Amino acid sequence: MRISYFNLIMDKSNFHIRNYESSSKPQGEVSWRSPSNIALIKYWGKHGNQLPCNPSLSFSLKNSYTETNVRYAPAEEKKPALQYSFEGKHEVSFETKVKKFIKNIYEYFPFLKHTDLSISSHNTFPHSSGIASSASSMSALALCFCSIERQCFQSLQDEGDFYRKASFIARLGSGSASRSVYEGFSVWGENKLISNSSDLFAISLLSQRGDHFNKLKDYILLVDSRSKEISSTAGHALMKNHSFANARFEQAKENLDKILTAIEQDNWNDFADITENEALSLHAMMMTSNPSYILLKPNTLKIIDKIKQARKQKALSVCFTIDAGPNVHLIYPERESRKVRTFIEQELLIYCSDEKGIEDQMGKGPQQIK
Ligand code: PMV
Repeated sequence: MRISYFNLIMDKSNFHIRNYESSSKPQGEVSWRSPSNIALIKYWGKHGNQLPCNPSLSFSLKNSYTETNVRYAPAEEKKPALQYSFEGKHEVSFETKVKKFIKNIYEYFPFLKHTDLSISSHNTFPHSSGIASSASSMSALALCFCSIERQCFQSLQDEGDFYRKASFIARLGSGSASRSVYEGFSVWGENKLISNSSDLFAISLLSQRGDHFNKLKDYILLVDSRSKEISSTAGHALMKNHSFANARFEQAKENLDKILTAIEQDNWNDFADITENEALSLHAMMMTSNPSYILLKPNTLKIIDKIKQARKQKALSVCFTIDAGPNVHLIYPERESRKVRTFIEQELLIYCSDEKGIEDQMGKGPQQIK
């Protein structure tokens, strides 16, 4: 296939700070707002240091984001201090996660070894809503650290270098977070279609894509916001020694090829078939792993059925995707919004807990606030 018009970025992969002087004493404050994203080609299975077993494709959301503020100052003690608060409250479990993440990235931000950090974070979307909070929170944090590097060491002046490093660092926190640092569609993972794609960081696919795909909407149908999703660490581990692992990784590569063609050719039906195939394959992997998980609820299946019917019988341009939980992301082009709204209200909300959903759409990517 041809992807000549995609706006591709040059592959450079040295993420260490050049001219780093440990005598520098960074001090100041930065804030970033970074979105969550929804995967259409799913990342499920990793190896080495957070490297994907197959390439994935997602788009960044608009309304579902994390805002993170980092205050930094020279460490007062030998060991740097870290304080983390979420939604205004000290959050121990996430603080532990962030501490581990920061230790893992010392190599790329050596100044963090001598810097006290006070981090506060806030999400615009509810917990357990089927929206990946690790993608938005880890990408927001990675962007903050890249901004500190830019401010204090005059590196990362080039925008391409800046976002590539942010994606690389975000990936080390949560694989899917690597795809959140760009506007619109992003691809993470080496593949033969996109010459400068990489397993180390995601790249942006800004393009003159077909009309259907310029402003995609994502309506999240909350089938069950209480039920526990499988943690992604446990999920990726299920793919080790899975009987279908190799076939799944090949399928994802083929699906990426097909979906990029569908987007280029503005072919909604192919796009819908591939997107749904990916979601169901992800769940098929979970159902056939050891231990196995069935995360789809009876109401998830009812919604899937309704969406398939609406596409066939009412010619509505809708399709679904589902992450590692029971909630359904209804994907559709903006121009179908009015008709889809009626469809949601009349036929889908009855299957949602408290008849609720969350409306979102493709967004413009992260934004620096301070
Ligand atoms: O980034 P992680 O480790 O939370 O894994 C994300 C896995 C899925 O959300 C199920 C798929 C994806 O590609 O986002």
